[in-house]
Amino acid sequence: MDDLKAKFLGQISQADDEAALEAIRVTAVGKKGEVALKMRELGKMTPEERQIMGPRLNALKDEINSALAAKKAALADAALDARLKTEWLDVTLPARARRTGSIHPISQVTEEVTAIFADMGFAVAEGPQIETDWYNFDALNIPGHHPARAEMDTFYTHRAEGDNRPPHVLRTHTSPVQIRSMEKQGAPIRIICPGRVYRADYDQTHTPMFHQVEGLAIDKDISMANLKWVLEEFFSAFFGTHVETRFRASHFPFTEPSAEVDIQCSWEGGTVKVGEGDDWLEVLGSGMVHPKVLEAGGIDPNEWQGFAFGIGIDRLAMLKYGIPDLRAFFDSDLRWLRHYGFASLDQPTLHGGLSR
Ligand code: PHE
Repeated sequence: MDDLKAKFLGQISQADDEAALEAIRVTAVGKKGEVALKMRELGKMTPEERQIMGPRLNALKDEINSALAAKKAALADAALDARLKTEWLDVTLPARARRTGSIHPISQVTEEVTAIFADMGFAVAEGPQIETDWYNFDALNIPGHHPARAEMDTFYTHRAEGDNRPPHVLRTHTSPVQIRSMEKQGAPIRIICPGRVYRADYDQTHTPMFHQVEGLAIDKDISMANLKWVLEEFFSAFFGTHVETRFRASHFPFTEPSAEVDIQCSWEGGTVKVGEGDDWLEVLGSGMVHPKVLEAGGIDPNEWQGFAFGIGIDRLAMLKYGIPDLRAFFDSDLRWLRHYGFASLDQPTLHGGLSR
């Protein structure tokens, strides 16, 4: 019996997986195993022998069973340890970077401009980028022969042969939205219209597609003084500092009188700074809406009057964020977008200073 015990306990301690343990269990303490065979021999023994051998065989069986159980548990522990070693996870590693897009400076500046004018009570209006000749020119007091048409480097669409209607145009400015808004809502009006405009022009400060924001305020007693206050208020909010403005007499067919507006700036080392120095930079056209334009929009010029302005959004973005070349705005170069773009959660607000 000591031999049996030594043999099986030895095998158990050597076993290195569950299948081996099971095989040992069957040959040792299974129904037809060696211990069972020994039990069967008890019948042939004398009662005295049986009284000694019976309990010893039972004890042997118990001992083998508990050795099997202990070994099984030890094997399971070892397997778990091995798994833990290969499956470990370093939670202190930095997280993998996520690719995030950025807000284009034009979108950012459009939002900033909109926020400032919204604060002054202007609503946002929009119009189509492909315009009729009438909205883009005639209704704005630019008749067919007017030199302003040629000056604007207009993109014309194609008409089928034999179709003699004037071709549609890619709008050369946001001013046609003035007419559409007058038609739609009548007076009084207080709107801005940001959007894309098109002119055939290409150099460091001109691209064939660019952006303007139109402003229009019509009421019974609106004057040039209101225009001046609104624009000065706008520039100070936008640039976050007091900005001197200069109103220069000018001419637009759709305003009378008309003024171009410059803002104070300095040029040092090739970079421009707004709100200091004694140079001037032209940023917009403006004036009192021409009576003929009010009429074209269906508004009685004897009862109503107002001001209008058109600002170059791209120019504002270049000035505020120090971007030297306009052409790069529309190249979709990822390096440029990452450098000049804005985080998507940086929403421009007046109280946040409208910038990062
Ligand atoms: N539409 C003019 C331009 O594109 C700007 C402007 C708008 C001037 C409104 C006066 C009034 O140059």
